[in-house]
Amino acid sequence: MIGRVARFPVCIIALSLQLGCAAGPEPLGPRSEASPFRPVTNVQQTMLWILDPASDVIWESAGTIVTAAGETDLAPTTEEGWENVRNQAATVAESGNLLMLPGRTSGPAWNAYAQALIAAGRLAMAAAEARDADALFDAGGQLYVVCRGCHAQFLISAEEAREEDRP
Ligand code: HEC
Repeated sequence: MIGRVARFPVCIIALSLQLGCAAGPEPLGPRSEASPFRPVTNVQQTMLWILDPASDVIWESAGTIVTAAGETDLAPTTEEGWENVRNQAATVAESGNLLMLPGRTSGPAWNAYAQALIAAGRLAMAAAEARDADALFDAGGQLYVVCRGCHAQFLISAEEAREEDRP
C-alpha cells in the first residue's frame, strides 16, 4: 500500500510532462508548418520518369520528319492520338507544380522556370484540344526553351553537388 501511494505522484509528474507538450495551443513552429505533401521521387527521377517521357510524346507528335521515302507529318491522325498528347501535356504542366514542392524547389528562379513549364504545358494542352498541329509545334518549341533554360542554371550544379557528396 505504501509503495503504491509513493509511486502515484511520480506517475502524475511523468504524465503531466508528456501531456504538457501535447496539449494546449499549437505553438507556431515546425510542427504547425508540417507539410501535407509526401514527395515520392527526387528531382532526377521526376525528370526521368515523369516529365521527360511526357514531353517526348509532345515533341514526337509535332512537325515533320524527312526520310528517303518522303516527308512524314508527325501530328496525330486519330482521336486517341490527340487525347494522348493532351494527357501528356497535362502531365508536363502539372510537373511544374511538382517541381515547386518543398524539398524539390531551389528558390524563386527555379520556380519561375517551373511556372514557365506550366505555361508551355498548358499551350500544348490547348493545341491538342483544338487538334491544331501548328500550335502544338509552337508549344513544343516553347517547352524546349524552358527545359534548356532551367538546365543551364541548375542541372550542372545538381550534378556537381552529387559529386561532392561522393566519398
Ligand atoms: C525547374 C528546373 C527544371 C526544368 C524546368 C526542367 N528540368 Fe530537367 N533537370 C533539372 C535538374 C536540376 C536536373 C538534374 C537533377 C539531378 O541530377 O539531380 C534535371 C535533369 C533532367 C534529366 C536527367 C539528366 C540525367 O541524365 O540525369 C532529364 C532527362 C531532364 N532533366 C529532362 C527535362 C525536360 C525534358 C524538361 C522540359 C520538358 C526539363 N527537364 C525541365 C531541372 C529542370
